[in-house]
Amino acid sequence: MTALPPITHAEGSHVWTGDGRRFVDLMTGYGAVFLGHGHPAVTARLREQAARVWQCGRLPTASGEEAEARLREVLPEGTRPGGLYSTGMEAAEFAIRLAACHTGRREFAAFGRSMHGKSAMTSSLCWDNAPVRAGQAHVLPFVDEAGEDEILGRAARLLSGGRLAAVLVEPIQGSNGGHEASAAFYERLVALCREAGTLCVFDEILTGLHRTGTRFYADRLAAKPDITLFAKCMANGFPASSLAIPHGMDIPAEALPGSTFSGNPLAAAAVSATLEAMRALDMGTRVADIEAAVRAALGGREAAGITLRGRGAMWMLELAGPIRAGAAARSVLEAGILVSAQGRWLRLLPAATIDLALLREACDTIAAACEAASR
Ligand SMILES: Cc1ncc(COP(=O)(O)O)c(C=O)c1O
Repeated sequence: MTALPPITHAEGSHVWTGDGRRFVDLMTGYGAVFLGHGHPAVTARLREQAARVWQCGRLPTASGEEAEARLREVLPEGTRPGGLYSTGMEAAEFAIRLAACHTGRREFAAFGRSMHGKSAMTSSLCWDNAPVRAGQAHVLPFVDEAGEDEILGRAARLLSGGRLAAVLVEPIQGSNGGHEASAAFYERLVALCREAGTLCVFDEILTGLHRTGTRFYADRLAAKPDITLFAKCMANGFPASSLAIPHGMDIPAEALPGSTFSGNPLAAAAVSATLEAMRALDMGTRVADIEAAVRAALGGREAAGITLRGRGAMWMLELAGPIRAGAAARSVLEAGILVSAQGRWLRLLPAATIDLALLREACDTIAAACEAASR
């Protein structure tokens, strides 16, 4: 990959590097800057909060209470926020601790090459992490490796042992080519978990808060998960994460993860400002327009070795056949477009506020760069 000079500043869907070049940002800080860089309302709220107080540990703050109230307005029905943390990994760890305390069980399952974070436990459940795999983690195949019926059969057998505290699910694999199971698969999985007394945890750290067109991915399902993790889109790039837990679920003291910086007043201010800004936008229409633009420019190119997967404002391009993925990624960068490139995938996470003409132009450039990188 061509080295990128240090980024000096950013605005909306553009970032500038020290050598004066401007890039269209379809990476958006791994999908966190969902309302665009330097969103005026979020920046103003952060400045205001910075002048008041930054860090108080676990003491209550006005900023924290406001963020909790804003979160309550957007969470799935029947749930409440289970605290405010700094990273997605912490929210996933908390769900794991909570599930262990709630069920009295110590084993967990998830699907191969999903992403839930990089702590020892979360990465044991998902990532390519054999050297440090924790003993209580079971990794099931996902839909890129097996048929849905086979996976559900294996999940049912594992669940019937009565030892699983939770099953973690990343509904669209954002770090593994955008693989997604059917609604019927997820609904059946939720039902199997419920029959077994196992919590079903949806990791919506990337998909949550309008990224895929609905407020949460699971809004489109008839059966709902017990716990929903979310993070990236909630504070427009400021480190913040949380989880939605059922109203009736107590949080035992031993489950609390705590951390020096979690839920700090600056993060809380960014959460309130971001959620308020989202409320003022028609997020559903914006994301639908983004989906239409990406599909029109990058869909239907399987014959050329380009497979598009995703939804809303979350897209993965799998480059195969004649296309040299490394060369394609370099050309995209040289053409002034930032995307995440990993192995044979390019990941596009445009901001919801991106100008559609700019997005169309960037997608056309990406398509041309990929096709030009054919052997
Ligand atoms: C779906 C999902 N879960 C969890 C994580 C981990 O979040 P963090 O990097 O903030 O720990 C990520 C990060 O990319 C993610 O995409």
